[in-house]
Amino acid sequence: MIILETERLLLRYLVPQDIPLLINLWTDPDVTRFMGGPRDVETLQKNLKKTAQNPSAEQFDLWPLIERSSGNLIGNCGLLAKEVGGVTEYEVIYVLAKNAWGNGYASEIGRALGTYAYHVRGINRLVALVQPENTASERVAQKMGMRLEKEIVRPEGGIRRLYAMYLPH
Ligand SMILES: CC(C)(COP(=O)(O)OP(=O)(O)OC[C@H]1O[C@@H](n2cnc3c(N)ncnc32)[C@H](O)[C@@H]1OP(=O)(O)O)[C@@H](O)C(=O)NCCC(=O)NCCS
Repeated sequence: MIILETERLLLRYLVPQDIPLLINLWTDPDVTRFMGGPRDVETLQKNLKKTAQNPSAEQFDLWPLIERSSGNLIGNCGLLAKEVGGVTEYEVIYVLAKNAWGNGYASEIGRALGTYAYHVRGINRLVALVQPENTASERVAQKMGMRLEKEIVRPEGGIRRLYAMYLPH
């Protein structure tokens, strides 16, 4: 069930009870402000139910983030494979519920995902694609040890700052 653990957090595979909490997260306008806005509830429900049937099916995915002290689900984080300029990159994704912001949690899980990416998945370069206005996300990438390489234009036209780091770090 558990994918990785840190001092204060753990990532584990999805269980059906997580679904309402993940729907709250992905429909929150503040959380999704720099991530394309609130998602459609029906689509979320359909996709999450499908994931719950075989939660470890995907090698690269977003997983429920749990605060160990409370046992609460506080986010959705993980690794996704993405085409960037014709190259497959591995992106670290951190999405936390508002009441969990400001505790250093994203940086903590981001660093652990870097270690996991290298040791478990054999990845030696990790990126973060950050919307220029998303200062908190950019700061997390910097705190993980990522460097700004360039600004890119995504296929849908959005501008992203490409942060990257080589592993092991
Ligand atoms: C981005 C996000 C994951 C950060 O989570 P977090 O656990 O609060 O992050 P951390 O506490 O590890 O670090 C945040 C850093 O950004 C800084 N920060 C936060 N908000 C900021 C702001 N508006 N302006 C400038 N810096 C800011 C914090 O001070 C901290 O830096 P510091 O440790 O040097 O003080 C969280 O805000 C979030 O989930 N946002 C919505 C989803 C999202 O946009 N995710 C990123 C796209 S993948």
